[in-house]
Amino acid sequence: MERLRVGLIGWGTVGSALGELIRTGPLPLALACVAVRDRERPGLPKGVEIGSAEAALEADIVVELAGGVEGPLTWARQALDRGKPYVTANKALLATHGGELARLAERRVAALLGSASVGGGTPMIETVIHLAATGAIERLRGIVNATTTYILSAMGEGRSYDEALREAQEQGFAEADPSFDVEGRDAAQKLAILASVAWGRWRPETDVDTTGIVGLPVAAGDTVRLVAEATKEALSVKPMPIEPADPLARAAGIENVLEISVTDAGVFRVSGPGAGGRVTAGAVYADLARLVAGERPILFAVP
Ligand SMILES: NC(=O)c1ccc[n+]([C@@H]2O[C@H](COP(=O)([O-])OP(=O)(O)OC[C@H]3O[C@@H](n4cnc5c(N)ncnc54)[C@H](OP(=O)(O)O)[C@@H]3O)[C@@H](O)[C@H]2O)c1
Repeated sequence: MERLRVGLIGWGTVGSALGELIRTGPLPLALACVAVRDRERPGLPKGVEIGSAEAALEADIVVELAGGVEGPLTWARQALDRGKPYVTANKALLATHGGELARLAERRVAALLGSASVGGGTPMIETVIHLAATGAIERLRGIVNATTTYILSAMGEGRSYDEALREAQEQGFAEADPSFDVEGRDAAQKLAILASVAWGRWRPETDVDTTGIVGLPVAAGDTVRLVAEATKEALSVKPMPIEPADPLARAAGIENVLEISVTDAGVFRVSGPGAGGRVTAGAVYADLARLVAGERPILFAVP
C-alpha cells in the first residue's frame, strides 16, 4: 500500500510525539514536511523537509498542531479548498470557525477531523459521535479543564486562590498567563465542540454561558469543580459544588471526565488524561487511521 504523505505544521509537545508515532506506528503514513517558525532549533526530525506551513499544504494530508487561530484558519481554508483532509487538535480554531470550515469541507468533499481538540487522548468526541448516531443524546456534563480542577481541589484543602494558582503554575498545571483556563474559556471551547457533535449543529464558543473561577470563595472541605454542561438548548460552564460521591468529584490531576445521558439508554461515562504529548498525538493518529481507511469524515454536521 502506498504511504500517504503527511504535512505537519507544529513540532512542539504534540507534533513531535505525532512525528514519532508516524515513524514507528502501523499505519502506511510518511512524514513529508514539518513546518515550524524556528527552522534552526534543535530536535527537528532528520531526513524530512523542514519548511513553511505553505510547504506542508502540498502533502496528501495536512495536520495542524501549532495552535492559535489566524494562521490555522488560513491553512485550513487553503487545504480544504484544495480538497485535502485537515486534521487538528486546535479547539480555539474549531470553536470559533468550525462551522465555516465544515461547510467548506462538505463543498470540497474533504475531511475535517479534530478528535484531539477535546479531552486530549481521551476518546470524548469519538464517544459522542458514536452515541449521537441515534439522535437521542439528552445531556452532556463533564470536567474538561485540569487547571481549574487543580486550583479548586487545592482550595478545598484550605489554600487561598492565589496560593493554589501559584502551586498549579509550579506543578505545570497552569500557564504563566492562566486567564484562558481560569476564566473558563478553555472549557467553553471544548463544550461548544462536544455540543456541536452531539446535536449535529455547529455551536460557537459564544453560545456558552461562561463563568470562571477567578476570585471564587471555596471553603476548606468543600468540593467545587468547573462543570461544563449542555443540553440541545443551553450550554454553560460554571463552578459548582458537587457531592463527594459524584463521579465528577473523582477527577484529579490531568484527568477529565464526561457524562453523556442518552434517552432510554442511561448515562455513559468516559474519563482519562486530558493532556500530554503522547496521549494527544494518539488521538490525532486515530483520526489519521480513518483517512487511511478511505473515510472522509467532517467533524460537525453542516448547519
Ligand atoms: N499539549 C497538550 O497536551 C495538548 C492537548 C490537547 C490539545 N492540544 C492542542 O494541540 C496544539 C499544539 O499544542 P502543543 O502543546 O504541542 O504546542 P507547542 O508545544 O507550543 O508547539 C507548537 C508548535 O507549533 C509551531 N508553530 C506555531 N506557530 C507556527 C506558525 N505560524 N508556523 C509554523 N509553525 C508554528 C511551533 O514552532 P516553533 O517551535 O518554531 O515556535 C511549535 O513547534 C494546540 O492547538 C493545543 O491547544 C495540546
